[in-house]
Amino acid sequence: MTGAKITAIGSYVPLQKMTNADLEQMVETNDEWIVQRTGIKERRISRPNEFTSDLCVSAVQDLMKRYDKSVHDVDMVLVATSTPDLTFPSVASLIQHRLGIPLTAGAMDLNAACAGFVYALHTAHSYVASGLHRKVLVLGADTISKITDYTDRSTCILFGDGAGAVLVESDELSTGFFGYHLGSDGGGGHHVYRTALSSRIEELELLDTKLLVQNGREVFRWAVRTVPQGVQRLLDQAGVSLAQVDWFIPHSANLRIIEPICERLNYPMEQALYSLVNFGNTSAATIPLALDLGVREGKVQNGQRILMYGFGAGLTHAGQLVQL
Ligand code: ACO
Repeated sequence: MTGAKITAIGSYVPLQKMTNADLEQMVETNDEWIVQRTGIKERRISRPNEFTSDLCVSAVQDLMKRYDKSVHDVDMVLVATSTPDLTFPSVASLIQHRLGIPLTAGAMDLNAACAGFVYALHTAHSYVASGLHRKVLVLGADTISKITDYTDRSTCILFGDGAGAVLVESDELSTGFFGYHLGSDGGGGHHVYRTALSSRIEELELLDTKLLVQNGREVFRWAVRTVPQGVQRLLDQAGVSLAQVDWFIPHSANLRIIEPICERLNYPMEQALYSLVNFGNTSAATIPLALDLGVREGKVQNGQRILMYGFGAGLTHAGQLVQL
């Protein structure tokens, strides 16, 4: 097995803010309810002509500038998203062209909703560890505002737009990837979905609005039950204890989901990193955005162990332990 490491991080969020006060003008809600029930204060919303690929390009430009990295020798582009500009071509192909990534590089999108970034990271690690690829560009990016129902107060208060990018490169001397855990329960697919070609799951008729539909309470319960179990399995597999994990980055769905997860794991909340306070739930982007916030704030340092855990529609979940 070849070693693999995350060597650079970048991110981007749209300029336009949507505060809780703005939402008070749109639906019957208030800042106090939103902050108490979710921890979210504001989110960023893409312009009508700004799409997931645009956010991705800006995130990669940020990465290249800050880490003095080039993408001209990237040999695979993976974009985790459930809100691509088009069904096809993929966002990965669009950004490969715009960023001047070689025509010999592979490019594809991957959809595991809010767990997508960790699935993409796991895929990138597998490619590099196998020796088949040397430099993989991984993005988690979504523009969920474009499929949000701004008449549904229980969902529209949660979501925002953003993109995060990392480079996963081969390393002959050591590896920065340890345990992982993946899971999926398609039986819970109807708890959070958006219809496309079909409005059915097996015999179940879904609400055909082309907007995101969510049974928040069910997703909430499932996440609080499933994530701690997944984290424990991942740690057992890696032979690492939680005390050896410097930072835990769960998907930023809701602070009231992160708190009971940390409580069940007996992990200090101060060591949990999340991006929801100012960016809301940005789906596949929440984890790289939180990682990048940690780097920018000087919390996350080279050599530290970071446990990322994504969860969401599918219902899917995925965890990855890395060392920077
Ligand atoms: N403002 C004021 N009141 C509200 C609002 C609001 N924005 N939204 C709901 N309420 C009301 C409800 O109508 C209800 O009133 P009632 O008791 O009179 O019926 C009350 O508040 C409580 O509603 P709940 O749904 O029980 O509220 P809860 O505390 O569960 O919070 C929330 C709802 C925020 C959606 C929460 O369940 C949640 O975050 N769930 C997880 C969502 C998630 O993680 N999604 C990730 C997947 S997304 C993806 O993969 C793309």
